[in-house]
Amino acid sequence: MIPQSFITDLLNRVDIVDVVGRYVQLKKGGANFMGLCPFHNEKSPSFTVSPTKQFYHCFGCGAHGTAIGFLIEYSGMGFIDAVKDLAQNVGMVVPDADDKIPPAQRAAQQAQSMALSDALSRACEYYRQQLRGAKQAVAYLKGRGLTGEVAARFGMGYAPNEWNALKAVFPDYDALALAESGLVIDKVDEAGNKQGRYDRFRDRIMFPIRNTKGQVIGFGGRVMDGGEPKYLNSPETPLFQKGNELYGLFEARQAIRDAGYVLVTEGYMDVVALAQLGFPQAVATLGTACTSTHVQKLLRQTDVVIFSFDGDKAGRRAARRALEACLPHVTDNKTIKFLFLPQEHDPDSFVRERGADAFAQEIDEAMPLSQFLLREVTADHDIDTPEGRARAQFDAKPLLQAMTPTALRLQIVRGLANLTQSTPAEIEGLFELSKPVAQVRRPPPRQGRPEPVGLELKLLRHLIAHPVLTMEIDEPALKAFESLGGESWERLSLLVGIGQALGEAGTFAAMSQNIKLVSSEFDGLISEIASSTETEFDSVRLELRSFIRQIKMDMLKEELKTLFSSGLTSDQMGVRYREINALQDQLMREAAAEMAPR
Ligand code: UTP
Ligand code: MN
Repeated sequence: MIPQSFITDLLNRVDIVDVVGRYVQLKKGGANFMGLCPFHNEKSPSFTVSPTKQFYHCFGCGAHGTAIGFLIEYSGMGFIDAVKDLAQNVGMVVPDADDKIPPAQRAAQQAQSMALSDALSRACEYYRQQLRGAKQAVAYLKGRGLTGEVAARFGMGYAPNEWNALKAVFPDYDALALAESGLVIDKVDEAGNKQGRYDRFRDRIMFPIRNTKGQVIGFGGRVMDGGEPKYLNSPETPLFQKGNELYGLFEARQAIRDAGYVLVTEGYMDVVALAQLGFPQAVATLGTACTSTHVQKLLRQTDVVIFSFDGDKAGRRAARRALEACLPHVTDNKTIKFLFLPQEHDPDSFVRERGADAFAQEIDEAMPLSQFLLREVTADHDIDTPEGRARAQFDAKPLLQAMTPTALRLQIVRGLANLTQSTPAEIEGLFELSKPVAQVRRPPPRQGRPEPVGLELKLLRHLIAHPVLTMEIDEPALKAFESLGGESWERLSLLVGIGQALGEAGTFAAMSQNIKLVSSEFDGLISEIASSTETEFDSVRLELRSFIRQIKMDMLKEELKTLFSSGLTSDQMGVRYREINALQDQLMREAAAEMAPR
């Protein structure tokens, strides 16, 4: 379970306008942003996003929620994935499940990653300097057609052919950070004792790998002769996970924006060479298959992703993996294409041999995702036979099921129906494809509980809209709530519990996110708050106080009544009677004081 405090922090840091804006075209309209609702079909915008409430709400279909809720509904991600996705965007690290790391330890972890980052950037600087004097390395790069300029842009360097070259940079060569960052390798004897250490990268051309903030998080090092392995990479470290990172993304950011698309290749050299030859919008996976995280990262930068693969079997396999990683993230305003180069080529060799224009044409003619998917599922079967067509449908099923209900999915279903002599409806039925989101979301079934009304309803509304107010609910106020009894008490105490756990940082967005986790009973209210103009905090606070006083008053009146009808003598009830009187007086005075103009 992700701690509540983390969710609150997260919702305070992300901006829902950015999040929704990645998928829905939004226009400013008054205090809010408006757009076409992605959850139902509409021609004029009734979908609003409020930057102050950090909440979206559709007046057409009633869809509403926080940034987290939006991602869940829109992309079909689970709660945890949505939180992770948002957190990554704002540079927050989601504490692991059951993470009970004390703050001190968390601070230690942050200190560690600072140390790793520092070690890596110092090493990077050192390798760069070394390249200048390394004739052989410079000749190698020149031989591959690279200029000094592009090498500098990518921070390329050279690791000398020595076992302990990094001693020159790190006087404390034994520092833990050097091993943890993967720069050195510790030698261990059979008894498990450390026997010194040595540089991981020796006599290699160095490609620093940067994260999206530009910090060096790892290296790839290429041999210059036929040695093995051709590329040596940093090991996975707390800073560097291959499945999450793309080589060249930092360097390519502006070019991706300018070009309007990103080109995804498979190699370090492809990225660097393409940058030099007129395609600076290229990135590369790091010797691993393309992951869903990669796709998400890319789609955050641009609406158009073009993958380039070799034309051989391995290339097609890699393309298939990329296709699978893409499917859950396909939306109708994104374009994903696949480019297959001739058998013997990678992008680097292709551009050098055939020229930039020929490569640009390949990009132009890249195969759209829908076409690639249909080709994938039909290529190996004879669709002139019923068995072949059935097999194609069988193969297509998991792929289509991985997609959210988009217009593109419908088009692919149509295409598949045509190819396999079926109807789209038959395919959707056979594949149990989820219904369009807008049809799935229906008000939750009533559980036969009486709806909140009157004073309770007003209290609930205030506590949800301004959860900070729950901090004012003290013991006596809780007692008063309890006196309302039954469902009212359950609902109020639930909200107070959540609100107080959120603390001073509690916002409407955080509150509703947390409520959603435990109950759908408040959906109507949340939606109502989301769609109404914002209430002013101070006046709401005064109103809330007066509601609470009113409940307390009612409680005291009730007690007086029972006291009088109890048959006690006036002496016996005297003490409590005077107490009740005093409490009533006090409430009146409080009310008067708050009504007085300030
Ligand atoms: P390639 O073998 O296609 O290399 O590996 P390349 O990028 O075209 O490099 P050049 O042109 O021969 O210099 C593609 C990617 O696979 C990973 C690297 O990320 C490389 O860029 N790889 C390859 C390794 O990690 N280790 C290896 O030994 C080989
Ligand atoms: Mn190559």
